[in-house]
Amino acid sequence: MTILVSGGAGFIGGNFVLDWLRQGDERVINLDKLTYAGNLDTLRGLNGDNRHVFVHGDIGDRGLVDTLLATHQPRAVINFAAESHVDRSIHGPGDFIQTNVVGTFNLLEAVRGHWDGLPGDEKPAFRFLHVSTDEVYGTLSKDDAPFNELNRYEPNSPYSASKAASDHLVRAWHHTYGLPVLTTNCSNNYGPYHFPEKLIPLVILNALSGKNLPIYGDGQQIRDWLYVRDHCSAIRRVLEAGRVGETYNVGGWNEKPNLDVVHTICAILDELRPKADGTRYRDQIAFVKDRPGHDRRYAIDARKLERELGWKPEETFETGIRKTIEWYLGNQDWVQNVTSGAYREWVGKQYEVQL
Ligand code: NAD
Ligand code: DAU
Repeated sequence: MTILVSGGAGFIGGNFVLDWLRQGDERVINLDKLTYAGNLDTLRGLNGDNRHVFVHGDIGDRGLVDTLLATHQPRAVINFAAESHVDRSIHGPGDFIQTNVVGTFNLLEAVRGHWDGLPGDEKPAFRFLHVSTDEVYGTLSKDDAPFNELNRYEPNSPYSASKAASDHLVRAWHHTYGLPVLTTNCSNNYGPYHFPEKLIPLVILNALSGKNLPIYGDGQQIRDWLYVRDHCSAIRRVLEAGRVGETYNVGGWNEKPNLDVVHTICAILDELRPKADGTRYRDQIAFVKDRPGHDRRYAIDARKLERELGWKPEETFETGIRKTIEWYLGNQDWVQNVTSGAYREWVGKQYEVQL
């Protein structure tokens, strides 16, 4: 048996592929364009492992995807491939429309063609699982109930609008063509192999190199945080037992204001890697210009996934963040590789203060 994963050299996709092959021997075909966010170093441990086939390419390349489906006959396709960074979507939304909307459309069409031709017994067993985000639901006020699967879609950034569009395409391909799809909408992930343009890895690495820790606006924006391996286990569970055509919200029950997250990271670093000059890491915090259209609060009601499929996260924020910091402290070679030229250019463009 084989699965096809797109975007499996990115943060969540990479963790998913590693976890998948730790748990079993089902082969993974990994299609990734290797944008700035894709990193083969994450998959280094799989070199020479014939259960993993890496293919450098674009989900928008119909010919390539058709060939991969025909050659490898996967029983499922899991779509992680996306442009995923809200700030980059503000600077340049074009790539987000191209990959998240047009790319997902291409992938769906290729998969539909493949699925149409499957023999009778294989057809109902096939799955297309689309990995999406809680950001499609827009923003919450302090006292609103967390997002559940029935909330309206109210995306506010070019990124979330492009993800919302992709979710709608997936839904329509099920309702119109009967394609057996599943969609997951997850909150903020963190953990190993996270590209350091996102808050948590950025803060860990800037702290260690004596740079500013940039907080947008007042730092009171709230996110729900989920350890990435818990997200991977949720995806495996939905793939295994999710009801076709359904969406499942995935979250960690860990709502935190950004400033609290940064204070927690600083306190753990003070303990694990105290500064030689006796100052504290939180002294490096710098409040910077807010993100345009910044959503104030996200929160996920993940009870459907628990009730129907028995999934719960294993990590609390406290255990997960400590593991994450320890991973960054122990994996400086991975960090050196991703923080090379292109990454520095991004930092120069995004932040007015010197980081
Ligand atoms: P990421 O940016 O780290 O990785 C994306 C991967 O997709 C990269 O390896 C990149 O090279 C690849 N890619 C981009 N465009 C491609 C294309 N056209 N064809 C093939 N590959 C392409 O993203 P991530 O954080 O790992 O997120 C993975 C998925 O999960 C995304 O769909 C994202 O919207 C969703 N998601 C992310 C989070 C989060 O907190 N990071 C939370 C919820 C949902
Ligand atoms: O909610 C799920 C989403 O989480 C995913 O769909 C996205 O792919 C993922 O990137 C993430 O989006 P966010 O915008 O929430 O993540 P980010 O790490 O960029 O920012 C987290 C919060 O921290 C957000 O409120 C903005 C703030 N922030 C971020 C950066 C990079 C800062 O205050 N300073 C910063 O330098």
